[in-house]
Amino acid sequence: MLIRQKKTSEVASHEITPEHVYLNRRTFIQATGLIAGSLALGATAGQAAVMPAKGAKFADVKKGYSKLGEKDTPTTFEAVTTYNNYYEFGTGKDDPAQNAGPFKPLPWTVQVDGLCNKPGTLGFDDFLKPHALEERIYRMRCVEAWSMVIPWVGISLADVVKRFEPQGSAKYIRFETVVRPAEMSGQRSSHILPWPYVEGLRLDEAQNPLAILAVGLYGQPLLGQNGAPIRLVVPWKYGFKGVKSIVRISFVEEEPKNTWRTMNSDEYGFYANVNPKVDHPRWTQASERRIGAGGGLGGLISPRQATLMFNGYQEEVAHLYDGMNLSRYY
Ligand code: MTE
Repeated sequence: MLIRQKKTSEVASHEITPEHVYLNRRTFIQATGLIAGSLALGATAGQAAVMPAKGAKFADVKKGYSKLGEKDTPTTFEAVTTYNNYYEFGTGKDDPAQNAGPFKPLPWTVQVDGLCNKPGTLGFDDFLKPHALEERIYRMRCVEAWSMVIPWVGISLADVVKRFEPQGSAKYIRFETVVRPAEMSGQRSSHILPWPYVEGLRLDEAQNPLAILAVGLYGQPLLGQNGAPIRLVVPWKYGFKGVKSIVRISFVEEEPKNTWRTMNSDEYGFYANVNPKVDHPRWTQASERRIGAGGGLGGLISPRQATLMFNGYQEEVAHLYDGMNLSRYY
C-alpha cells in the first residue's frame, strides 16, 4: 500500500472536537475501564432502517455493542472524513475528501447473487428496510499502522446474510465496490488498482456479531470519502477489508480474490486479521499511530500505542481461527 508524506496543514484542525461534546453528552465513554454491551445476535427487533432526508441525522439508532479502552477517544468527525484511503478518488489521504464531490451515492442499488435462495437487485431503501440501525463505536486499524475510533451507524451483516438465505455450498461472501469513472477520478486510471475493488469474508466471519454494513458515522449518512452509501466494517481486521460503496454482494464457494492480495500477495492476504506479532514486510505492526490524538502532521508524529491482537476483539473472534496458523495470514 502506498504511504505518502502528508502536508503539515492536513490535520491541524483535527484537535477541534465538537463531536466529543455529542459523545460525552450521550455518555458513550466512561472515564475508566471498558464499556461492554451485549452481543445481540440477529437482533432485528428495532425500527426499520430508513435513510434520513438530506442534511438530517438517522432516527431510531439504538446503541449497539462497543468495547472501548481508556485511550479510545473517538476520532474527530473532521479527521474521520478528511484522512482517508479510497483509491477510487486518488491515493493521497486528502484526495478522497477533495475529489468525492461529484460522487452521487443516491439513488443506489445493491445486487445480491450467487449461492443463495433469495437473490435480487434492490433499491437502497428496500435493501435497508428490514434491518435495525445500530451505533457501534469501533477501533479501526489500518494496515499502514495508523488507527482511529469511529462511531458507525450500521446494520448487522449476520442479519443480511440470514435474509438472503445462503445455500449449503456457500462458504464465502464477496463484495464489490461501484465502478463509476465519470464520478470517481481515480478509476479513470488503470494504474492505481484493478477496478472494481473486491473484498470478501468467510461466511462464518460475516456472521460474527461484530461485522456490520455501515451506512453512517457520527449519526449521519456516510460521506463519499467514507464509502457512501454502504460499506463493510470488520473491526478485528485491517482496514482494507472494509470495502466501500458496495453494489454487489455474492455468496460463493471459493475464497474471493480480494484486491490487495491480487496486487501484492507477498504483503497482503485474505484474512488480514490485526496481529501485532506479524510485521508487514516493510514495517512493524506492533504499534500504531492514533490519528487526531495529538502531534499533527497527519498523525505521522502522533504518539504510538501498542496494537492489540485482533485489534482488541480477541474475545469475540479468536474462536473463528482455532487451528489456523495466525502468523501466515498475510
Ligand atoms: N474500499 C475501496 N473501494 N477502495 C479503497 O481504496 N481502502 C481501504 C478501505 N476500503 C479502500 C476501500 C483501506 S486501505 C482502508 S484503511 C479503509 O477503507 C479506510 O476507510 P476510511 O477512509 O473510511 O477510514
